[in-house]
Amino acid sequence: MEKTIAQIEKEALKELEAAPDSESIKAISARYLGRKGAVTRYLRNISTLSLELRPEAGEKANKTKKTLDALFKKALNKLESAHIETDDRIDVSLPGRAVRQGSLHPITQITQQICDIFIRLGFDVAEGPEVETDYYNFEALNIPKNHPARDMQDTFYISNNIVLRTHTSPTQPRIMEKQKPPVRIIAPGKVYRCDSDLTHTPMFHQVEGLLVDKNVSFGDLKGVLTTFVHQMFDKETGLRFRPSFFPFTEPSAEVDIRCVICKGDGCRVCSKTGWLEVLGAGMVHPAVFENVGYDTTRYTGFAFGMGVERIAMLKYGIDDIRKYFENDLRFLRQF
Ligand code: DAH
Repeated sequence: MEKTIAQIEKEALKELEAAPDSESIKAISARYLGRKGAVTRYLRNISTLSLELRPEAGEKANKTKKTLDALFKKALNKLESAHIETDDRIDVSLPGRAVRQGSLHPITQITQQICDIFIRLGFDVAEGPEVETDYYNFEALNIPKNHPARDMQDTFYISNNIVLRTHTSPTQPRIMEKQKPPVRIIAPGKVYRCDSDLTHTPMFHQVEGLLVDKNVSFGDLKGVLTTFVHQMFDKETGLRFRPSFFPFTEPSAEVDIRCVICKGDGCRVCSKTGWLEVLGAGMVHPAVFENVGYDTTRYTGFAFGMGVERIAMLKYGIDDIRKYFENDLRFLRQF
């Protein structure tokens, strides 16, 4: 053997002392302790020594191996912890990154505002299923199978008798079947129609209203809806009731409000009419009462249904209903 183990160890220590970084320490470690390293080779060559020299040489070489290994590891550890302390990628004086708080979707906000107004007027909030039977969505509401009135709604059929509800009106018979008059409820929720353009999405939201008691008149309906519009928009907003047709109300009306954009002068939003349609309403049809077992000689009632997206569009001045559902944060963060 050309070098003694003591010499090898000395050289290794010298190199280690001069090592500037962890990469070079790893390289030195490989050069001495690696598979072809100097210490490893020395250990392998011990078998070429004479028998009496072998034990001592082996002991010394193993000691050197252990010592060097411990020193290399210690040096590496030291460098690494120093690295964390002085790492210039971490500036501990920077302010923390705040978690940005989200907000309720504008449709949720408007739904809550609508409900709050009716809750103050004494209504309770009710809910019904979105996957509905043909019976509650149509027949209980006086819309028989094959009746042309069904054409007003572009229904998604799940099967022959199961549909995605096309309006929130089926909550009316569902509630009345369970509860005797007086009834005073609103029912917000999602509804579905096979329809899609600038002002229609296949899924949208409605709020249904129903009030049944003795001596309820169309005047009560007008009073409640006028109060609602004045609170939702402002006290100056005018309303008009136009005769209309719904199978589950008689008489029926469509309710317009004075255009919130042009205040009635006529503009693009109201198609130059000065009016905007916001809801359908009417006095509950006796056939609907009969379907749920209410006594039509004792009770009368009114019902109404409004589209939440439409109210929100008017309130915020939004011209494309699809914006609500594109999940563009630049849009949603404005509310
Ligand atoms: N359900 C109707 C629709 O979606 C709206 C409606 C009209 C609801 C008159 C009512 C009502 O409760 O009385 O077109």
